[in-house]
Amino acid sequence: VPTVDPELVKRWHSEGGELVELLSQVRERAGGVAGVRLGPALTVLVTDPQAVQHVLALRPDRYVKRSHRARLLIGDGLLAATGEAWKRQRRLLQSQFTGTGMRRYEHRITQAARTTAERWEAYARTGQSLDVGKEMHRFALDTIWRSLTGHPLDDETAHELEAVEAVGAALPTLPADADKARDAVAADLARIDAVALRAIEAVRGGDAGPDGPGLLHILTDAATERPEYTDQLIRDELVTLLAAGHETTATTLTWLYLLLDQHPAAREAALAAGDAGSEERRRAVQALVHETLRLYPAAWLLPRHAAEDDTLVGHTVEAGTDLLVCPYLTHRDPRLWPDPERFDPQRFLTPGGRPTHPGAYLPFGIGPRACLGLQFALRESTILLEHLLPAHTVAFSATPTKAQYGITVRPDGPTPATLEPALV
Ligand code: HEM
Repeated sequence: VPTVDPELVKRWHSEGGELVELLSQVRERAGGVAGVRLGPALTVLVTDPQAVQHVLALRPDRYVKRSHRARLLIGDGLLAATGEAWKRQRRLLQSQFTGTGMRRYEHRITQAARTTAERWEAYARTGQSLDVGKEMHRFALDTIWRSLTGHPLDDETAHELEAVEAVGAALPTLPADADKARDAVAADLARIDAVALRAIEAVRGGDAGPDGPGLLHILTDAATERPEYTDQLIRDELVTLLAAGHETTATTLTWLYLLLDQHPAAREAALAAGDAGSEERRRAVQALVHETLRLYPAAWLLPRHAAEDDTLVGHTVEAGTDLLVCPYLTHRDPRLWPDPERFDPQRFLTPGGRPTHPGAYLPFGIGPRACLGLQFALRESTILLEHLLPAHTVAFSATPTKAQYGITVRPDGPTPATLEPALV
């Protein structure tokens, strides 16, 4: 694997730059499969679409996920599970997140979108300021909570569930020692466990909630036939769905509003497409989401570990090597995406407007470990925007000047705004 000069990393360290800047230079100098020594060992950065497809979709048996740190929060939940256990867990949840399963949750998503739209109406009437990022978090959490429990999200649960994000944000900087790491976030983990336990007990006690049985019922029902679904595993799946299912969508919707602030014509173009509720409108709104996900794929780095020696598009990768697949850089490769920094939703509406290689656009990953919530995320984003976009324009009073590249890529700072009644 072509590897960059260690001087590049040294300089980056001393200048205190962002990881994404270093990775971008690594790709520029060494290509789509590029070596870099971030620590003592070699890390391989994968951005070439063919190599991306090989690692994630064609040979996922050779490039495995290792989620030591995430396990602290999500235990053996789907995101961290491996082997046969992962297969069983995925099979159970997959049917809920596709086809008819998915349609069962459509109503809950719509309820959550209406609740947000009503809140925004009140903000617009009173001229009160809101924080777009916080609003999107509340919506995404409400959506997934309703889908899990059949209940709308109440303020107290919302407050307790802030602990999920707190632990998630702390993960990259926790001590390597598992016990010490657990101690550092023990109070937040206890809050999360208490909410999870309460929800599981409510379902067991026959509480289906006003929206009817939710995903948690599927899990507790499974427990009656499958001994592996212990209360601990049900808790782990619940926390996994909360953690994987809200920050990503919320961040995407926040980026989308920040992008529309710079490109108001894109909002108008989407609203000019077809009538409200038409398929044409839906496609146009979804193109806004896709173009946002191209520029800011929330999961901007997908780590893998080579379990065996392999040849990766002509390069030798030894067993034990860590790899970083980077959708963010693939999505900004000018050889794949002309004028890549430009926000242009038309790419996703025009035939031939985007590269068709499966490894060229992967905000939800690809292959067997691709996002379970892909359809869910697209539906909730589209439904919310179909409610909000026609009603108001958002006037930000300040916008973050840069992105924060952690586990997700998100706006680095608050997003205060007021709402104005839409003229178009
Ligand atoms: C996995 C992105 C929303 C649940 C993934 C992966 C990506 C991703 C890239 C694959 C990670 C890898 O290969 O290492 C996103 C984005 C979202 C989103 C960008 C929103 C815009 C959701 C939602 C849910 C969800 C709404 C649940 C309701 C999951 C789960 C996995 C996953 C459970 C693990 C699947 C497995 O390993 O089998 N997501 N996701 N995601 N996502 Fe999402």
